[in-house]
Amino acid sequence: MLVAPSLLAADFLHLEDDVRMLNAGADWIHLDVMDGTFVPNISFGFSVLDAVARIAEKPMDAHLMVVHPERWFKRLAEDGMSSVSFHLEAAGRRSAANLEEIKALGMKAGLVINPDVPVKRLFPYIGKADFFLIMSVFAGFGGQKFIYESLDRVAELRAEIEKRGASALIEVDGGVSSANAASLREAGADVLVAGSSVFKSDDPIAAIKALREA
Ligand code: DX5
Ligand code: ZN
Repeated sequence: MLVAPSLLAADFLHLEDDVRMLNAGADWIHLDVMDGTFVPNISFGFSVLDAVARIAEKPMDAHLMVVHPERWFKRLAEDGMSSVSFHLEAAGRRSAANLEEIKALGMKAGLVINPDVPVKRLFPYIGKADFFLIMSVFAGFGGQKFIYESLDRVAELRAEIEKRGASALIEVDGGVSSANAASLREAGADVLVAGSSVFKSDDPIAAIKALREA
């Protein structure tokens, strides 16, 4: 599996050190952008993304928890993002067009759902999205407890992707740790996002490796 540590859990007074650690150990760098409207929290915006982009050597994966995500795709492409995901709940009927726009800008396009959205709502986008992001906590905050029903949701999506002979990565985000990484792999996850379990570890690079090899 690939591991995408979430910079939300980094030490913002020493962000350069943390990005360099991710350059050494991570597969992707997951960047959580929150607007205080789609989710009840505000994280960081372009001032941080621009700075990270200057030194990042691993693919940057922007997870947009914002209303009107389409406003930012071009800017995110200019900033060198490799992948951008947005929430189905935020984009609604614009979701297919958003996926096309992201791909046309040369980035991988991902569609995200919170734990209360039926997985079947993603099925119309199989073949359109490069990846799906299944939230295993409600978007908005790091450090929450993994919702175990997420394993069934990952498996359901994986089965449908295979049934259709399509290919799409499944990313999982929220409460991911060594306690659930192997189960996530068995359920069909390809990319694990992990904030607290990586950054609160005494040895973040070893923690990333353990998730990757779970
Ligand atoms: C939550 C974010 C996550 C968060 C994960 O809204 O999307 O990426 O940083 O943090 P942990 O791994 O601590 O749950
Ligand atoms: Zn995220």
